[in-house]
Amino acid sequence: MNTNLFEGRLVRLTAEDPNILAEAFARWGRNSTFSRLLDSDPSRLWSEKKNKEWFEKGLDKDSTTPFFSIRSIADDKLIGFIGAWGLSWQHGDTFFAIGIGEEDFWGKGYGTEALQLFLGYTFREMNLRRVSLNVFGYNPRAVRSYEKCGFKIEGRVRQAILKEGERWDVIYMGILREEWEQLSLMEAT
Ligand SMILES: CC(C)(COP(=O)(O)OP(=O)(O)OC[C@H]1O[C@@H](n2cnc3c(N)ncnc32)[C@H](O)[C@@H]1OP(=O)(O)O)[C@@H](O)C(=O)NCCC(=O)NCCS
Repeated sequence: MNTNLFEGRLVRLTAEDPNILAEAFARWGRNSTFSRLLDSDPSRLWSEKKNKEWFEKGLDKDSTTPFFSIRSIADDKLIGFIGAWGLSWQHGDTFFAIGIGEEDFWGKGYGTEALQLFLGYTFREMNLRRVSLNVFGYNPRAVRSYEKCGFKIEGRVRQAILKEGERWDVIYMGILREEWEQLSLMEAT
């Protein structure tokens, strides 16, 4: 019960004002490498204003679906986000999306730790049974990060994505509550 749900060693999960989120998302969205990792639809540019409207509508509408910003602890910099989607209370399952928008922070463990915090939140606070995700075959860094958090590959939709003439799989991954509990026990010992 004394676990700090929102703070790790490298990052903490925060709630930000829509103005701050809108500025960051508009800036991160101009990095097409980033937007292609997040979404297989054609990359689009969203203005700060459109982002702000989306955050104001979306975050107010559904307060039971968790959405967090990610800040680095060392310099309190807003570096990304993590949020649930497709949440089913009935089945105790949720999908999520994660994006470290600040490219300098890729590959340094910030995203993985944010996901570990998010998993702790979904299992400890929301009492979910499992957490699910899908990831594109051209994102091996994300697959590795998810494996480090205990996710297993559960299936793939072969050659579902076409980007610049090349076909890629959509990979489905998931983690069950007991697998997360086992990992948490191992980390605690
Ligand atoms: C995906 C993301 C959350 C991962 O978080 P992260 O903190 O950068 O990941 P980490 O640094 O903890 O780990 C990355 C792992 O991938 C490995 N990796 C990096 N590039 C790789 C590649 N091309 N092939 C295989 N593994 C790779 C690293 O070696 C590391 O594994 P290791 O710790 O065993 O050495 C983050 O990079 C991110 O948000 N990226 C941009 C947006 C995105 O891809 N979102 C996910 C959409 S599904």
